[in-house]
Amino acid sequence: MLRIHFNAPTRSKGVRCCPMNALRVLLSREQIASRVAEMGKQITADSSGESVILVGVLKGAAIFLSDLVRTMNVDSTFEFIAVASYGTPAPDNRRAWDSTGVVRLAKDVDQPLRGKNVVLVEDILDTGLTLTFLKRLLLGHEPKTLRVAVLLDKPSRRKLAISADYVGFTIPDEFVVGYGMDYAERYRNLPDICVLPEVSPS
Ligand code: IMP
Repeated sequence: MLRIHFNAPTRSKGVRCCPMNALRVLLSREQIASRVAEMGKQITADSSGESVILVGVLKGAAIFLSDLVRTMNVDSTFEFIAVASYGTPAPDNRRAWDSTGVVRLAKDVDQPLRGKNVVLVEDILDTGLTLTFLKRLLLGHEPKTLRVAVLLDKPSRRKLAISADYVGFTIPDEFVVGYGMDYAERYRNLPDICVLPEVSPS
């Protein structure tokens, strides 16, 4: 038998997939749309009329970037990059880099970023390992400016001292899915951001 429980103090080692109707909504589609629009307005204001290249991190930031760029009132283009990780999965079935900290680039940008105003767009700032790696990588392109926009920030899980210039929501240490974010590639199509409950054998 499987038991599903929310807000578990420790993480389960069990499979975490569950039916969509068992998911708890953390942030509704209305809350997300409203906050993303505010972020787009802020990025527009900070861009002072200069064109911007958004660089989204596949796959989790794809939906966020798609919505964000349409709220921006400044000449914008976008690119996608992808990262992969080495090592074995973490005990709680999160991505491997959660435990190993080794991130590598799987897909680079398709155009030069030198002298451009770049906004790196990520779904979640968690331990900070991925964004630290990507910031260093993009700075190597010698952009004119580099800013970071994240939809979600989980500061309690940070391993490296890094922060984003734009944060949609600060959330507690919960595993979330939806609005582009997945567990084992599932749930990305959910329009709300939901907490994936811990599932443990009993
Ligand atoms: P970091 O390197 O630990 O900051 O991890 C960032 C990446 O881990 C994010 O881009 C996500 O892909 C993934 N991640 C972290 N927390 C979650 C979560 O709650 N749900 C889905 N993916 C997550």
